Amino acid sequence: LTKTKTKMPKQKQKSEFAHQPVLFQEVINCLQPQAGDRFLDLTAGFGGHSQAILEMTKAPGETVLVDRDSTAITFLSSKFASSGVEIIHSDFLTALRRLNHQHRQFDLILADLGVSSPQFDEDERGFSFSRPGPLDMRMDRRQDSTAEHLVNSLSEAELANLLTKYGEEPRARAIARAIVANRPIKNTSDLADVIVKASGWRGRHKKINPATQSFQALRIAVNDELSQLRQSLPLILNALTPGGRLAIISFHSLEDRIVKQFLQEQGGNTYGSQLTILTKKPLTAAHHEIASNPRSRSAKLRAAAKINT
Ligand SMILES: C[S@@+](CC[C@H](N)C(=O)[O-])C[C@H]1O[C@@H](n2cnc3c(N)ncnc32)[C@H](O)[C@@H]1O
Repeated sequence: LTKTKTKMPKQKQKSEFAHQPVLFQEVINCLQPQAGDRFLDLTAGFGGHSQAILEMTKAPGETVLVDRDSTAITFLSSKFASSGVEIIHSDFLTALRRLNHQHRQFDLILADLGVSSPQFDEDERGFSFSRPGPLDMRMDRRQDSTAEHLVNSLSEAELANLLTKYGEEPRARAIARAIVANRPIKNTSDLADVIVKASGWRGRHKKINPATQSFQALRIAVNDELSQLRQSLPLILNALTPGGRLAIISFHSLEDRIVKQFLQEQGGNTYGSQLTILTKKPLTAAHHEIASNPRSRSAKLRAAAKINT
């Protein structure tokens, strides 16, 4: 990868929306934005990556920003809409289906998966076990199903399955049993208490609070995150121009596995391969980034270029 040093955009907006883009320089180095490039950001969030890339492509009319969160969309609209950027309020799978249908292609595609800091830090959204709030966890609040709905309506076996599959939680059965015994559970603090008690955590030996995995599992289920990603990858490939570049940042092993497998299948150096892998190993945050933004600790960036046929 060619390394170029790019200035991270300053957060000029209200501090409540402060979101530090992760692996910022690494994303720029992988995508190598050029003037005139068509750019699609599938998880535009609070526009940290997008702003820097737009400053390099200087092509707002060729740029599409997608997010499923209405707060992010309001923010992106106030920040970019007057410049001619197209902003789509939708999950990225639906957006990609529409863009594929319209035969639209892009030179640069970015997906920075998961939850943004403003989503995570807002008690009302219910994403964090350490913040009191309703059991919501919907990225798109137009959808019906919430974490509260799952927690209070799934059977014990279904809950145990969900916690195992999406949280890789070894105590899933005990936690599921305790959840069912304590229903109805309406808020994050009560759920976190039930999980901590059921897992027998004393908080001393194991550093990570056991609620981390169960909350992750519920969030993935509420937002159908893995299926969104799995189904979107082939559509992303269709939406890339020959020679176009793709960068995907994931935050847990389940997501990263899906991305890695897809890139291996499509970039295998065999007949019919459509991608050249740009990151043999996923890029991760340097110590100084982790120190200033602990969220970056689990970020993994994989990138590829579409073969120019
Ligand atoms: C980590 S943040 C992105 C931050 C962004 N790169 C920035 O610099 O501000 C992830 C964003 O992706 C959005 N998101 C996650 N999954 C999505 C999906 N399937 N479809 C659309 N947006 C999604 C979330 O709502 C959130 O705003």
